[in-house]
Order: sequence, then C-alpha cells, then structure tokens
Amino acid sequence: MASSTMLSAGLASPAALRENTKKLGAAAGRRVGEFFLNGKCSGRVKMAVAVNVSRFEDVTLAPPDPILGVSEAFKADTSDVKLNLGVGAYRTEELQPYVLNVVKKAEKLMLERGENKEYLPIEGLAAFNKVTAELLFGADNPVIQLGRVATVQSLSGTGSLRLAAAFIQRYFPEAKVLLSSPTWGNHKNIFNDARVPWSEYRYYDPRTVGLDFEGMLEDIKAAQDGSFVLLHGCAHNPTGIDPTPEQWEKIADVIEEKNHIPFFDVAYQGFASGSLDVDASSVRTFVARGLELFVAQSYSKNLGLYAERIGAINVVCSFPDDATRVKSQLKRLARPMYSNPPVHGARIVANVVGDPTLFGEWKQEMELMAGRTKNVRQRLFENLSEKDESGKDWSFILKQIGMFSYTGLNKAQSENMTNKWHVYMTKDGRISLAGLSLSKCEYLADAIIDSFYNVS
Ligand SMILES: Cc1ncc(COP(=O)(O)O)c(C=O)c1O
Repeated sequence: MASSTMLSAGLASPAALRENTKKLGAAAGRRVGEFFLNGKCSGRVKMAVAVNVSRFEDVTLAPPDPILGVSEAFKADTSDVKLNLGVGAYRTEELQPYVLNVVKKAEKLMLERGENKEYLPIEGLAAFNKVTAELLFGADNPVIQLGRVATVQSLSGTGSLRLAAAFIQRYFPEAKVLLSSPTWGNHKNIFNDARVPWSEYRYYDPRTVGLDFEGMLEDIKAAQDGSFVLLHGCAHNPTGIDPTPEQWEKIADVIEEKNHIPFFDVAYQGFASGSLDVDASSVRTFVARGLELFVAQSYSKNLGLYAERIGAINVVCSFPDDATRVKSQLKRLARPMYSNPPVHGARIVANVVGDPTLFGEWKQEMELMAGRTKNVRQRLFENLSEKDESGKDWSFILKQIGMFSYTGLNKAQSENMTNKWHVYMTKDGRISLAGLSLSKCEYLADAIIDSFYNVS
C-alpha cells in the first residue's frame, strides 16, 4: 500500500513549509533507497506537499536554445530590415519557407492511395529503410548487397544521433566520443543526455578561417584507442569547412590505425554540392576500407522535411549476423524511448527516392536550392570585397560549403550584428546563407564590415 503524509499548512511561513517539504522529501528518498537496497520494492512512497508549496520550486529556468532561441528573438523584433540567419532552414529568394514540388507530388499520391495511419514497426517503414541506406552507400555497395548494414528509421538526424548515443552508452561504456571543435551545438547535449563522455579535436583554425588539419590529426591520434570519432559527412556545421578527398583519406588512415570507430553525421546529403553522390563520398571512402561505422541521416534540409522528423541510423558491421543483432538492440532501445517512428515523412522519402521520375525531379530541385545558396555566397563575397577598403581577403567565404558560413566574427561582433543591424545569427559568428537573398547581401556586407572593424 502506498503511504502518504500530509503537512499541515497552518500558519507556517512559505519558507518554513518549503523546508519541511524538503525534509519530508529527503526522508521519503531514504525510504525508497532502503526498499531498493533490501532488494525488494514494497510500494511507492507518495510525496505530498502542502498548500501553496510547489514540488517544482527547485526547478530552475532553462536558458533558451542557442540556435532555436535566435528565431524567437527574431520574431519579437519589429524592424523592417531584420534578417534571420540563425536557423539552418532553406528560404526562397523572397525569404519564404519552401516546400519542394516533389514533396507535394508525393503527398498527393499518398492521399490518392488513401493510406492508413496504423503504427509502423519499431524499425520504421521497410521501403524507407531500403532506399535511405541505398542513397547513402550506393545501391550496388557490397555492404548493402551482403546485408551488412543495420538501418533503423528514427526521429530525423537528432533522434538518430540520440539512438546511436544510447547504443554506445550501453555497448561501449568505456568509450569516448570525439567531437570537432567547434561542432553543431546539439551534439554535446545529445551525448551529455545519453551519459556518453566526449572530448574535442581541433578543427577550425581562426587564423586562416580554414581547417586545422594537422591539429585534427594530432588530436585523433592522441585519443584513447577505440574512440568514436564524430565526423560531419559534408557541409560541416557551423564552419562550412570540409576536408578535401585527400584529407579524408588521411583521416581514415589515422582512424584505422587507432582502431577508432567513425561516426558520420550526414545532415546535408545533396545540399552541399548539389549532388547526392559527391556529398556521400566521405562516408563511402570509409566504407570502401571495410571499416565498421555509424551514420546518422536526416531529410530535414535536402527534402525540406524539417518538421516531419525523418531520418535514420545506419550501422555498418563486418558481418550480416552482427547487423541483425545490432538492429535488434537498436529496436530494443527505441521501444521505450518513442515506441515507433512517424510514417508521413518516411512515405514521402520512399515515394520520391523509389520513383525514377520523382527522384530525377528531386535532384533538380536540390541543385536549385544548393545553387541559390552558392549564388548568395558569391554575391556576399563580392560585396564584402568591394566595400572593404582595407583589402582584407574574404575568399574564405567561397571556400566554405553548404548552408552556413563562419564569418570569423566573435561574440561581441555577432551581438553588434543583432543589436545594431537586426541581423539574427548565432553568437559564434555563424550565418545561414540559405536564409539570405541576393538583394540583402549588400546590407549584410555593411553590417559585417561595421561589426568586424568597429567592435573588438
Ligand atoms: C550537423 C547536424 N546534424 C544534425 C542535425 C539534425 O537536424 P534534424 O534533427 O532536423 O534532422 C543538424 C541540423 O541542423 C545538423 O546541422
């Protein structure tokens, strides 16, 4: 029988009541501990609280998310010139959200077929899992043909990373994850919440606003053997700086030598270069070496399915048997977390990738999105070079790839961008070029030059 104890509110002050409640909570906690220490649980201790006293008193207010919080601040700004370059979401030249035509066509087909809303299996939609792995590794890749990949549909890129993190925590409790410095802000949250320790490897060199390749190799080499190395498959977020194909080979050499496990985060396949195959080449380089590895995939950007939460975790194993067991354990972890994934986005992807006509149209639309972003990048570079009389070399902007540009602006300078110029961006100096139009490049160049030279 559950026991409960009530405190009398009486005339005691709220502070005294809180103190009493805490004591009661502590006592209750001890009792629960004792039950479990004895190896038996003979019931739950119900913690009751007095009138006017909340159990949530000690819950502190969480800070806003550094990326999503930028959009909130943008919404609250009433200025006409405001620009939201914070969140990584593609906008049209008119700065409006974009739903791909192939997505609309796939949804029309789905509606006509009158498909039901029954639960998916824990691993997701079979047709989705097939095409997503083929899109990533290539349909004729031996790892696919031999059944060496465990693929599980999950909740977009974030959910796929989180599921893999739970798997690492359970099966590799001694392992550490190495993250690039800097990395997408949510990586640290994901591994923290999964109780997976992480450390950083050098990646960004502020002197060149480029890759610190030697530092990266040194740090990966220095890490304990058998670490997970988180790599951005393409369009590194936040820097937009990717290793060259030759550098990827050297990274693979070190990872192989150290018996590390590569863990690719592929959130921009097709969106970086405009080609699905080119953007998957880093992953395929590692797979061709016969390495076991993890890949988290997302369709938020390349199909514009942000809110559908569609993605997958793929684990390439040495043998088909391993893949079967790994998949069974991923399912086991997913079941108590979210039971099974949503169907709508999975059907869209399966219809688009599985239909040669729609697939062709998708590739064209993706080239269009990547192309618009590249044009904006070029225009911003030109405006900066024309306006900056100091002769500073801004060509690093052209060397970066994908949605983002790392401007090299520091925190104070980024704050000036927002406070003075109404340009909303993350405080690390990152701007999303996919949220910029050609016509706003000049304004942005003025803002960057002012912030760079007049704020230290
Ligand atoms: C590097 C990286 N990984 C993963 C994600 C995950 O995005 P989502 O959960 O929307 O698929 C993002 C999104 O910005 C990203 O930039």
